[in-house]
Amino acid sequence: MFKKSIAVIALSIFSFSLSAQQKENPYTGPKINKEEMDKKVNSLLEKMTIEEKIGQLNLLTPGGGVATGAVVSDNVQQKIKDGQVGGLFGVSGPEKIRIAQEYAVNDTRLGIPLLIGSDVIHGYKTTFPIPLGTAASWDMNLIKQGAQVAAKEATADGINWNFSPMVDISRDPRWGRVAEGAGEDAYLGSQIAKAVVEGYQGDDLTQTNTMIATVKHFALYGAPEAGRDYNTVDMSHVKMFNQYLPPYKAAIDAGVASVMSSFNDVDGIPATGNKWLLTDLLRDRWKFDGFVVSDYTSVNEMIAHGLGDLQAVSAQSLKAGLDMDMVGEGFVTTLKKSLDEGKVTEEEITTAARRILEAKYKLGLFEDPYKYLDKKRAKKDILTKENRAIARKAAAHSFVLLKKDQQILPLDKKTKIALIGPLAKDQANMPGTWAPTGDFKNSITVLEGFQNVAKKAKITYAKGANISNDKQLAKNVNVFGPKIEISEESPEELLGQALEVAKKADVIVAVVGEASEMSGEAASRTNLLLPESQKVLIRELAKTGKPMVLVLMSGRPLNISEEAELPIDILQVWHPGVEAGNAIADVVFGDYNPSGKITASWPRNVGQVPVYYSMKNTGRPGLQEGFEKFKSEYIDVDNSPLFPFGYGLSYTDFKYSNTKISSEEMNMEGSVTVSTTVTNIGDYDGEEVVQLYIHDKVRSITPPKKQLIGFNKIAIKKGESKTVTFTITAEDLKFYNSNLEHVAEPGEFDVFVGTSSSDNSQQLRFTLNE
Ligand code: BGC
Repeated sequence: MFKKSIAVIALSIFSFSLSAQQKENPYTGPKINKEEMDKKVNSLLEKMTIEEKIGQLNLLTPGGGVATGAVVSDNVQQKIKDGQVGGLFGVSGPEKIRIAQEYAVNDTRLGIPLLIGSDVIHGYKTTFPIPLGTAASWDMNLIKQGAQVAAKEATADGINWNFSPMVDISRDPRWGRVAEGAGEDAYLGSQIAKAVVEGYQGDDLTQTNTMIATVKHFALYGAPEAGRDYNTVDMSHVKMFNQYLPPYKAAIDAGVASVMSSFNDVDGIPATGNKWLLTDLLRDRWKFDGFVVSDYTSVNEMIAHGLGDLQAVSAQSLKAGLDMDMVGEGFVTTLKKSLDEGKVTEEEITTAARRILEAKYKLGLFEDPYKYLDKKRAKKDILTKENRAIARKAAAHSFVLLKKDQQILPLDKKTKIALIGPLAKDQANMPGTWAPTGDFKNSITVLEGFQNVAKKAKITYAKGANISNDKQLAKNVNVFGPKIEISEESPEELLGQALEVAKKADVIVAVVGEASEMSGEAASRTNLLLPESQKVLIRELAKTGKPMVLVLMSGRPLNISEEAELPIDILQVWHPGVEAGNAIADVVFGDYNPSGKITASWPRNVGQVPVYYSMKNTGRPGLQEGFEKFKSEYIDVDNSPLFPFGYGLSYTDFKYSNTKISSEEMNMEGSVTVSTTVTNIGDYDGEEVVQLYIHDKVRSITPPKKQLIGFNKIAIKKGESKTVTFTITAEDLKFYNSNLEHVAEPGEFDVFVGTSSSDNSQQLRFTLNE
């Protein structure tokens, strides 16, 4: 059990504990009356024909919303009436959903209601920052609150099942879906997985403002070769258990009611048809008792993977432990045949159907199939002032101050500002990728936000550049609508206007970055630079010599090595969601002091990828800086990233001191406490994420250089100090050995407490004894 506490010097002392992610059978999810559930589900199963059971395993999307795959389902209405559908997604609104639900309830023999799914990835209509952004807040309460808002809005619109959280660890910023996850670290990712699942599901799934969560994409989807989406994944079991699987497990321990299998293969077998993954690991080892849904047509895609025809891959998937088939209709069209031919058993079909019925029971749909279909709620609960206020706070707390050498920020609210850049007056890109439920027209632009927050500032705007001048890129990115709009005016004209505006201002704020669909699904990049159009703009603006702030938007870590050399301040704001402009203004004008820390390292160039803080030493450890022959390093660039995991500045400065450990020895049953005093030595009140890392000096499999095992975000007023205390037990020191046993091995451990993963200033040591 990992405990941590803060003692606030001269103020008060308080403590709290975090549950360990790796306990055996640690289910902490919503309470369910198993006996009652079994009674209801058994009585239904007894009455069901084999076709009706197979029908429950079929998930369709009628289209009309954003289809995320190449196909959408046809003839949905008739299929529901024929008892061939267990759930729908991609429909929203109580009226529409009621029609579908009535077909299921009134027109089928047994009247079994539908599950209604959706991708509510970072907010519903009130969009929040992309998940990589909210992760950077390191604020579990705020993250959970965001999920609660999303669940409240989505359920008010008729949805009862969410395809979120996406917890895929990724160390490859080329992969576009890095935007949807929590970054590179398994420990932080696990805490976030738990917070989000709890936020969506609450402790009672029968409430009308909670919904079933789905942890995805199981498993390892974030580690495709070369960062190319849907690409092959191949990794050792030791690596997956230690570095990639913990967040999925944390979601399961938190009671997540469904799991989505991933597109990639695992050990050469696509996840959707992988028995080791879906049964041996998920059910037998982790005791997952919810249902598993495929990803979009991922059953069918096993044909292209090379595993046989639709009947064969459908049978393989069912046997592997897949319960529901998304869109591809392999189950509904072939399982009966496979049963007749002895290729699957009735028991396998019944087991899958049982799990779908159980999910419906958990939601209370048998009692009231229309419980989420209250038109009044849809009007009252969505996009409310309160929800927007939470989104604004979540956005401001997600921003990361990457550079402040010039101390230009925060700006005075009366300043003469040249607000320049292709994203400065943009709405379409504010919600970020994977926000199909949100309407970008509700978004606050940066210009509007500045005008709202700094009413007396004199703000002049110029676009300055297109997001990109590359027409082919624009075409590839604009699949869901225009995100990159190429102006009629020439790049020279745009630049000229910007320089004109800049000349007359006291300070330049350049809002630049990626269009939202330059990250996300099927949006991998081989180049992590800002598009050339914007690089030119930044260079030219910098040449004016005016104080300059870069407000940077992206769905991934970028390579900004060139821009980081300029004498400017840089604020990373991701894609901040519906309250984008207001939240950015809150931070730029100092109403909120930025406190975010990046959760995925930013490379110096794309050739360094993957670059992450928990790399191994190797037998020839490289230097962080400089070069030495025959060491594991490059001849042309340092090994260190441009910005390491856990890094982020504040308008104020924090000093760490008096870092102590309670003992240099610890037993397996014992604990040590590590404490440090953090003093706010700057001119602003602020918040700091105090991070705790260990390095296991000797163990049976090679250890990472550093490993995060705890963190605590604290607010400290200027001039004040707080002492943060972490308690470490053997549970926190555990890893999976080569037999995949979860063990702590005796020996020496280095401990680092500090402001980021590269902070070695506060170092301690202790020994774990037998
Ligand atoms: C994505 C999933 C998503 C599903 C349904 C797929 O393409 O990989 O994350 O939940 O579509 O929209």
